[in-house]
Amino acid sequence: GKVLLAYSGGLDTSTILAWLIDEGYDVVAFMADVGQEEDFEVARSKALKCGAKDFILEDQKREFITELIYPAVQANAIYEDVYLLGTSLARPVIARGMIDAAAKHGCQYVAHGCTGKGNDQVRFELAFYGLKPDIKVIAPWRDPAFYNRFAGRSALLEYAESKGIPVTQTKSKPWSTDENLFHISYEAGILEDPNTTPPADMWKLTNSPETAPDQGEKVQITFTKGVPTSVKVASTGKEHTDAVDIFFTLNNLARLHGIGRCDIVENRFIGVKSRGCYETPAGTILRAAHIDLEGLTLDREVRRVRDQIVTTKFSEQLYYGMFFTPECKYVRSCIPGSQATVNGTVSLKLYKGNTIVEGRVSQEQLYDEKFSSMDELGGFKPEETTGFIEVNAIRIKRYGVGQAEKGKG
Ligand code: ARG
Ligand code: SIN
Repeated sequence: GKVLLAYSGGLDTSTILAWLIDEGYDVVAFMADVGQEEDFEVARSKALKCGAKDFILEDQKREFITELIYPAVQANAIYEDVYLLGTSLARPVIARGMIDAAAKHGCQYVAHGCTGKGNDQVRFELAFYGLKPDIKVIAPWRDPAFYNRFAGRSALLEYAESKGIPVTQTKSKPWSTDENLFHISYEAGILEDPNTTPPADMWKLTNSPETAPDQGEKVQITFTKGVPTSVKVASTGKEHTDAVDIFFTLNNLARLHGIGRCDIVENRFIGVKSRGCYETPAGTILRAAHIDLEGLTLDREVRRVRDQIVTTKFSEQLYYGMFFTPECKYVRSCIPGSQATVNGTVSLKLYKGNTIVEGRVSQEQLYDEKFSSMDELGGFKPEETTGFIEVNAIRIKRYGVGQAEKGKG
């Protein structure tokens, strides 16, 4: 049989590649360019050296931004109040890239190097089955023949050596990462003690706020139906309008000014708790700006329905790997309807780890300065509010009476 393997260039997937060949498969190595900082040529030659029949590199940056990141920005997607879902968001695109490549290269199997305790195995496989129900999946880290043989780092290293796999000893970091243009994650290793403070040199995508420049940067972000369509940077006078350019621009500014770090103990789908550290540079700025603009432009009740249902459900569906499902398709179809009025520009200052909102403007007519003013009535009849309070007080007064009686008894 022929297998398409999600290849990362690391020790695990290189070992898996060689092991699959030992098991009698032909292997095609697949790599998605989702904006990670990576030497793809090094990965290519390594995969071929491990015995891959072919190496496929798919540039999936643009689809990642427009199909996954934009809806997440529009919906203010977030998991357990902290995690901006950077890994979860990339999985559906990569899985689709794999299924397409498998078809093109005649692979009946797809394989991945995710562990049996994580979220990613679930995300990849549910996506595979949603896209191609008859695909056959090989998950070596759940196969006793594999995990018993390669229990521990040294067994992997020994095997790699015996196969002539170049183990580029880039002084192995005591944690595992997953990177794309939206974020990087750090988990496992020394981070497994939730009380261990990450070493300063772990953080790869952002400066520490302490070393960020004393001079902040001003930017103006324009949203069209909740999607960022322009970023103007004060210090350069440049305007960025291309989707990929917007991300790289905001990532660079966030990196300089130390924006986007977080550290959380989260609940994985399979029920274990896990400590993770993340950097989501551009995503953190976009979230602050988008939420702010919604304050000016979004109807109160539309916002409530969106927050309580769409935001909550979409975030959960992303985290749980339920992207290619009928319920997620339905929830995603609701997002544009909530964003019709989210048009306008937010002015921000980026300063030492902070995204400070300094102003916002929109052509949408929801906010009426005259009507909101404390200094003039603007057609408002103050005496009518008396009735509003009286009616709301009916229930509360009744409660107060009950409480007073209880107090006496
Ligand atoms: N805990 C995060 C998530 O579930 C990050 C996972 C990182 N994945 C990885 N293969 N290193 O989305
Ligand atoms: C893994 O277990 O392969 C990485 C972490 C995760 O998927 O949650």
